[in-house]
Amino acid sequence: MKILAIESSCDETAAAVIDDGLILSDPIASQIQLHAEYGGVVPELAAREHLKNLLPVARQALEMAGKRISDMDLIAATQGPGLPPALMVGFHAFQTLAFALDKPFIGVNHHEAHLYSPWIDPQTKRLNQNSFQPNISLIVSGGHTMLVKVDSPLNHHVIGATIDDAAGECFDKTAKLLGLPYPGGPVLDQLASKGNPKAYVFPRPMLKDPGFDFSFSGLKTSVRYFIQKHPALLEDHRHLQDLCASIQAAIVDVLVKKTMRAALQSEVAMITASGGVSCNRGLRDGLQQACDANGLSLRIAQGRYCTDNAAMVGLLAAWKIGSGASLQHNEEGIRPGWRLETDANE
Ligand code: KG4
Ligand code: ZN
Repeated sequence: MKILAIESSCDETAAAVIDDGLILSDPIASQIQLHAEYGGVVPELAAREHLKNLLPVARQALEMAGKRISDMDLIAATQGPGLPPALMVGFHAFQTLAFALDKPFIGVNHHEAHLYSPWIDPQTKRLNQNSFQPNISLIVSGGHTMLVKVDSPLNHHVIGATIDDAAGECFDKTAKLLGLPYPGGPVLDQLASKGNPKAYVFPRPMLKDPGFDFSFSGLKTSVRYFIQKHPALLEDHRHLQDLCASIQAAIVDVLVKKTMRAALQSEVAMITASGGVSCNRGLRDGLQQACDANGLSLRIAQGRYCTDNAAMVGLLAAWKIGSGASLQHNEEGIRPGWRLETDANE
C-alpha cells in the first residue's frame, strides 16, 4: 500500500511517501525562522506558511519517491490535536484532494503518531514492529507532556499529563527569560551541556505527588523571580551555562523519576520517549542511566523523528490499516483538542 502523509499541526509543513511500510521520502519545511522574531508560534502566520509550502512539499515528497499522486492508495493527514488554523490547511486540503481523486483518506492523531515514533528505525526506514514490548511512554513536546501505558501495539491509555505548561513550553519560556532566541529548548540544551547542573537549585514540581501528572508553570515562575533577584548572572557566559544546566536538571529530574516510577509500578520492561523534548541530551542521558540502573530497556525516537514529521503519520496509518482499520473516506472536520484516550480503540 502506498500512502501520502501530511503533517501541519504546528510550525512544520511535512509530507511523506510510504510504500508497504517503507519511508520513501519525508521532506519538511520548517517555519522556525518565521516565528523566531515573535518569540513563539503565531497560529495565523503558521497557517499562511502552510498554505504556501504544502503543495511544494507534497510534490517534493512524491518526486523524491519517484511516484505520482495517482499511484497513492491512501492519503493520511494529521487531524488533531494542534493549532486549528494550521491543522485546517493540511487536513482539509488533502481531504478534498483525496475526495477529488476518489482515494481513501484518514485522519491521524498527532500524539499517537509521536507515541509510536520510537519504533521507527532510521536505518531500515521502517517500523521495528517485531521488537515491540509493553512499555511506559513519555511524550514530551511543545504542546504536551504525558505518560502513556502501551499494553500492545495500538492499545494504549494515558496515565498522566501536565496540568499546565508542557515540558517544551517550560524550556522555551525559561530560555526566553534568560534572553535566549526561540525556540529556546535546543539553545538551552546546548548551553546546559557546558554548565554545572548543581550550581542553582530550582523546584521539582509534583515530584513527590503519588500520581503521574506533571506541572511546570511553578518552575518557570521560580526562574523568573530568581533572575529578577540576580540579573547580573545573565551577563556572564559561565553563569548563564550554569543556570541553563540547573533549569534543565530540574525539568529532566521530574520527567525521568516519574517515568521510571510509572514503569516500575506497571511492571513493564521498557520505556519509550518521543516528541521534540526527547532530543534533549540531558533527558536522553537521564533516561538511559535510570533504565540501566533498573534493568529496563529504552527506545527513544531518533533524529528527525523526535520532532514533528509526516513519516510518523504515514507509518501509523500503515500500521492501523495493517491491523484492520477501515479504509473509508474520513469526512469529519479537524479535531484541535483530540485526546489520545478517545483514540485507543478506534
Ligand atoms: O514535537 P515538537 O516538534 O512539536 C510539538 O508537537 O510541540 O516539539 C517542539 C518542542 C519545542 O518546545 C522545542 O523547544 C522542544 O521541542 N525541543 C527541545 C529540544 N529540541 C526541541 N527541548 C529541549 N531540548 C532540546 N534539545
Ligand atoms: Zn509534535
